[in-house]
Amino acid sequence: MSSLATGFPIVSRVWSSTIGRKLLVALTGIVLTLFLAGHLAGNLLVFVGREAFNDYAEFLHHMIHGAGVWIARAVLLACLVIHVAATISLTRQNRAARQAYENKATIQATKSSLIMIWTGLTILAFIIFHILHFTVRLSYPEADFQDPLDPERFDAWGMVIKGFTNPATVLFYVIAMGLLCSHISHGVQSMFQTLGLRSQKSAPILRVLSVGYAIVIFCGFVSIPISILVFGYGR
Ligand code: HEM
Repeated sequence: MSSLATGFPIVSRVWSSTIGRKLLVALTGIVLTLFLAGHLAGNLLVFVGREAFNDYAEFLHHMIHGAGVWIARAVLLACLVIHVAATISLTRQNRAARQAYENKATIQATKSSLIMIWTGLTILAFIIFHILHFTVRLSYPEADFQDPLDPERFDAWGMVIKGFTNPATVLFYVIAMGLLCSHISHGVQSMFQTLGLRSQKSAPILRVLSVGYAIVIFCGFVSIPISILVFGYGR
C-alpha cells in the first residue's frame, strides 16, 4: 500500500497523515456497512421463495450485461483492502505512540482497537470461507443446482438451503455474524467520531443507532441458517 502511495502524490499525502488514513477507514467502512444492508435485504428473499431468490440472483449476474457484478466486486475488494491496510497501519502507529506515553486512557483505547483488529481478521477469514462456499461452491463441485421451475438457470435458493444443512457450517456462520455485529457496533461509532459528527450530546444516540444497526444485521443474517437447520425451512 505504501509503495502505491509513493507513486501517486495525492494518495501519498492522504496515506501519510493519520487523519487521512482514519478518513479512508471511515469512508470504506460506510461502503462496506451499506453493502451488508443491501446483501441482507437480497438474502431475505430466501423466505419469499425459490422463484424470487433465483430471479434476484439472476438479476445480479446479468445487470449491465454481466459487468455489474464485476464492478461491485472490484469496488468491494478495493474498499476491503484499503480498510484493512489503513487499520493495520494506524494500529502499528498507536502501538509505537503507546510505548512512548503509557497511561490508562491509551491502554483502554488499545484494548478496543485490539478487539477491532481480531473481530476484523475473523470477518476477513469468514469472507474467504463464504466466497469459497457460495460463489466458488467448493463444497459441492458435483452438484449442478438446476432450478426445477426453469431448468435453464442456476438454483441459488437450493444451494443456500443445502449449504445450511451442515451444523458445523451454521455454527461458524453464527459465530462470525456475532463478531461482525461487535465490529459494526464499535466501527459505526468511530466512523461518526472520525467524520466529526460525534459530540458529547449525540454520543448516546449514536451508540443506540450503531448497536441497533448491528443487532438488525446479526438477527437478519442469522435467521437464514437457523430457520433452515433448526426449523427445517426449505428442506
Ligand atoms: C446467512 C448469511 C448469508 C447468506 C445466506 C449469504 C448468501 C450469499 C450468496 C448466495 C452469495 C453468492 C452470490 C452469487 O454469486 O450468486 C454470497 C456472496 C457474497 N457474500 Fe454473502 N451471504 C451471507 C452473509 C454474508 C456476510 C455477513 C458477508 C460480509 C461480511 C457476506 C459477503 C459476501 C460477499 C463479499 C460475497 C461475494 C460476492 C461475489 O463476489 O459473488 N455475505 N452471499
